Amino acid sequence: ELGDFPHYMLKEIYEQPEALENAMRGRLDVGDATAHFGGLNLSAQQLRQIDRVIFTACGTSYHAGMVGEYLFEELARVPAEVEYASEFRYRNPPIDRNTLIFAITQSGETADTLAALRESKRMGHTTLAICNVVGSSIAREADGGVYLHAGPEVGVASTKAFTTQCAVLAMLALYLGRSRHLSAAQGEKIIADLQALPDVLRETLRCHDRVKAIAAKYADARNVLYLGRQYLYPGALEGALKLKEISYIHAEGYPAAEMKHGPIALVDEQTPSVFLVPRGAVFDKVMSNMQEIKARGGPVIAVASHGDREVAAVADDVIPVPDVPEYLQPIVTAIPLQLLAYEIALLCGCDVDKPRNLAKSVTVE
Ligand code: F6R
Repeated sequence: ELGDFPHYMLKEIYEQPEALENAMRGRLDVGDATAHFGGLNLSAQQLRQIDRVIFTACGTSYHAGMVGEYLFEELARVPAEVEYASEFRYRNPPIDRNTLIFAITQSGETADTLAALRESKRMGHTTLAICNVVGSSIAREADGGVYLHAGPEVGVASTKAFTTQCAVLAMLALYLGRSRHLSAAQGEKIIADLQALPDVLRETLRCHDRVKAIAAKYADARNVLYLGRQYLYPGALEGALKLKEISYIHAEGYPAAEMKHGPIALVDEQTPSVFLVPRGAVFDKVMSNMQEIKARGGPVIAVASHGDREVAAVADDVIPVPDVPEYLQPIVTAIPLQLLAYEIALLCGCDVDKPRNLAKSVTVE
């Protein structure tokens, strides 16, 4: 089943272009410039009345939910928030009946996410699932939902589930947006961006050799920081999670500008920072955050737009990625971060597919 790959994690990283094709197949409607989903079970009226969305999830799926907040806000203009399922299940937040709740989960069996879904249904809210495993508990108990169609994810570290979750959330935001203010022309542009994405990821995967060389330079780090802003703030959290769970190196993700409020005290010559800095609206801001780290002697690895000389002049090492609109950058930049964690974990002699203390699905509270 592994084919030519030494580990499931690597196989699943390389499967992402195809996983995205499968996640989007039959769902993009060029004619109406929108997306369609078979199993949402929402009437047109319900859809129009939605005025708030809550995502609930754990771990990597929670990070996808954070990307979802930005997507729903920007593309659909619907207020959205995400909450850890383990917190949501014990809270009693005021939620009105036009709020839609989504449980995001690869396995569909995560105990806290399942409990959050049940609690939400008990209160009478429409609760949908964004899920990979067909027929899983969460898929069965939700009022409706969207399957990722990413194929089986065997490696404990989630990879293709994250990128397909982000793509499904973008399609849902498009769908909600088109039932509101988004014009047909804007919808068409989003569809074209999404359709181009599988090939963009094929191109992105070519960074592997570069990432391998960089991993060799930093594999003995004890602490690594991951920094990004806006859509790439959750991207930074996800990069840090990948590294810590499979290499056991301490890593933290932060919104880049938040560093100066405390965490910058951690920076020294032995503490590399991974900056997510492809071109976009906050590029200059992230560059000045990068300068702040350099000024304190911290080594910088930058994930940047192909051929970006401004970044190359400051960063110690650069991983080039193709340019995409900002709302798709978390998907594209996930690839070098997954590869970096994988290569460093291998150099540390870790079992990347079965990291210590972890199970593929967490079915206990
Ligand atoms: C990280 C990872 C975990 C899961 C989390 C939720 O790589 O795999 O953080 O993302 O346990 O699992 P699901 O998505 O199955 O609910």
